Amino acid sequence: MKTYKIGLLGLGTVGGGTVNILQNTLNEIERRLGHTIEISIIAVRDLNRARPVDTTGIQMTENPEDVVNHPDVDIVVELMGGTGLAKELVSQAIRNGKHVVTANKAMIAEFGNELFALADENNVIVNYEAAVAGGIPIIKALREGLAANKIEWLAGIINGTGNYILTEMEEPDADFDKVLKVAQELGYAEADPTFDVEGIDAAHKLTILASIAFGIELQFNKTYTEGISRITAEDIHFADQFGYKIKHLGIANRTENGFSLRVHPSLVKKDVLIANVNGVMNAVMVKGDHVGPTMYYGPGAGAGPTASAVVADIIDVIRAQSMTVEDRIPGLGFKADQLAQAPV
Ligand code: NDP
Ligand code: HSE
Repeated sequence: MKTYKIGLLGLGTVGGGTVNILQNTLNEIERRLGHTIEISIIAVRDLNRARPVDTTGIQMTENPEDVVNHPDVDIVVELMGGTGLAKELVSQAIRNGKHVVTANKAMIAEFGNELFALADENNVIVNYEAAVAGGIPIIKALREGLAANKIEWLAGIINGTGNYILTEMEEPDADFDKVLKVAQELGYAEADPTFDVEGIDAAHKLTILASIAFGIELQFNKTYTEGISRITAEDIHFADQFGYKIKHLGIANRTENGFSLRVHPSLVKKDVLIANVNGVMNAVMVKGDHVGPTMYYGPGAGAGPTASAVVADIIDVIRAQSMTVEDRIPGLGFKADQLAQAPV
């Protein structure tokens, strides 16, 4: 048994959710993992800001370099966002031999190729399940569950804020700006919400999904990107009268010449499953050549769902460091005396 030490960059919506899980579900996680996890240090921008979680016993700093250069930290969890400082810090963490877990889709979509190469050179892991579709384990599904398939296409609702806005705008008198403000208050939106409403966030995510599904390099600048900012309540009303919903979709296809990636508002027949994915929920459909069409559904943003994916990635890093037979075979090693008595 080993204690794995975590250093966090950021304690906002997702960082707070991550600390909450690591404090409140830790016994259960550690029991299944066979190792202990400790948060050693957290960097924030403003130490005086009130925090929704208890940070007693954790070193707090306004200097994020303290985290990536901390001698005891095994895993750096980047939850501050942005592509400038975040990328520099993650690179430094990797060079220092630390594994990285991140929810930062912008950084992965734009600089992932470079970061993965650096991680390979330094023999460390970079995990980023939380970067796409919040709590839905879609990266694991593509990489592991569907690994036997040639993926023909994938399509989905991959921005929770945008789907929340489009859903709320179905109500009479709904106002785009007011609904966006609520999404921001709920912690769904990006620091710069134009990333959500102009489709940039969805394009980042589609770039990541396509890279894994098709086994190609990340190519964000080749993704056609159109958002929902020009959709009006009238558009939604007319679509409804013709039997359609307007959904903001990310679509990745194989084509004769390679691959096509595009995000844009789409008319979807009301009786199609994905037309009924509402609010902050996300859904991704994936067609594999052997499995056929599959669909993955769940909350796409917010503290709990996103942190659930972050902590799962931390657990994966630890498992990869300490592979035992029990880790390789799910369920093996669980003890009978831990099972509840079946009701008679
Ligand atoms: P927040 O804005 O809520 O939190 C950002 C955190 O980073 C804050 O704690 C902030 O400190 C800290 N921070 C920012 N800049 C610095 C700096 N220079 N030095 C030290 N600390 C810094 O963002 P979110 O939690 O919403 O998002 C974090 C990441 O997760 C982003 O990459 C986002 O795209 C991604 N993500 C977010 C989801 C969501 O639902 N919110 C879902 C999936 C991914 P302080 O608190 O002091 O300001
Ligand atoms: N702003 C993003 C969204 C957060 O609304 O989907 C989750 O990635």
